[in-house]
Amino acid sequence: VSHLAHTSAHLLEPATIARLRAELPSTTSVTYLNGGTLGPIPRAATAAMRDELDRQANFRQAPGVWDALSRAQARARQVTGRLVGLRPDQIALMHATHEGINTALWALDILPGDSIVTTDQEHPGVLVPLHVQAERRGSVTRTAAWHGELDVIDAIVNLIDNTTIAVVVSHVSWTTGAIIDLAALRAAVGPAMRIIIDGAQGAGVVPVNAQRDGWDAYTVSGQKWTLGPHGTGALALVLPERWLATCCSMSAIMNPCAPNSDHLRLVRPAL
Ligand SMILES: Cc1ncc(COP(=O)(O)O)c(C=O)c1O
Repeated sequence: VSHLAHTSAHLLEPATIARLRAELPSTTSVTYLNGGTLGPIPRAATAAMRDELDRQANFRQAPGVWDALSRAQARARQVTGRLVGLRPDQIALMHATHEGINTALWALDILPGDSIVTTDQEHPGVLVPLHVQAERRGSVTRTAAWHGELDVIDAIVNLIDNTTIAVVVSHVSWTTGAIIDLAALRAAVGPAMRIIIDGAQGAGVVPVNAQRDGWDAYTVSGQKWTLGPHGTGALALVLPERWLATCCSMSAIMNPCAPNSDHLRLVRPAL
């Protein structure tokens, strides 16, 4: 990340940097270094949000309002799909990265004693959902050392046995900035192991591509490197039909994407 920032600072003309800063009001008075918590929101995004709020305030139930909202969600799925190398119908919109992790875990058929391998550098947005699965469904969380004696991928593989149903890890560590080579992870764990990636610090700042990377599920944060508002994110699924239907929120009902698709058919047969 710092290498990219360093390189681009040398490539961009001062006038371009000034234009970018002007488009990102939070960066005009400070050197903004915390895109990993909240990215600066571009003026264009704030204007679009204001327009949408005005439309909802003024025409809450008028014909077309619901369609406009559906179109906005379809567009969000489309651009998120482009970001991770998938189609819009493989993207479920979420309200946060951890909602994506939670949804993916509930959409796994976890039985008591099944193990899930993670690392010792994960965010509470992964640790808490894993803890919930252990408490509610009896899974066992196994923790590989990311910066131990072994390479993190070898450490993960060492913890996998015939009880293991999934690997849940960050693409980019929120603590050290280290990046897991996702294609190498897939090669090491084999084709059948379910790989769920916490992409909070990945998508938007490092390249993501489902085909090249080999993951099954990838969570995207809306409010960090993709420069969106709080309360946004996505869960990308390569094969939605491989996941259990989950209970879903209102906005998820409008997601034509499993793990909610069975519910979709029940709730809105027209979709
Ligand atoms: C690696 C990682 N995962 C998950 C999260 C949680 O993100 P959200 O608030 O979108 O659930 C964060 C937030 O900083 C993070 O850095």
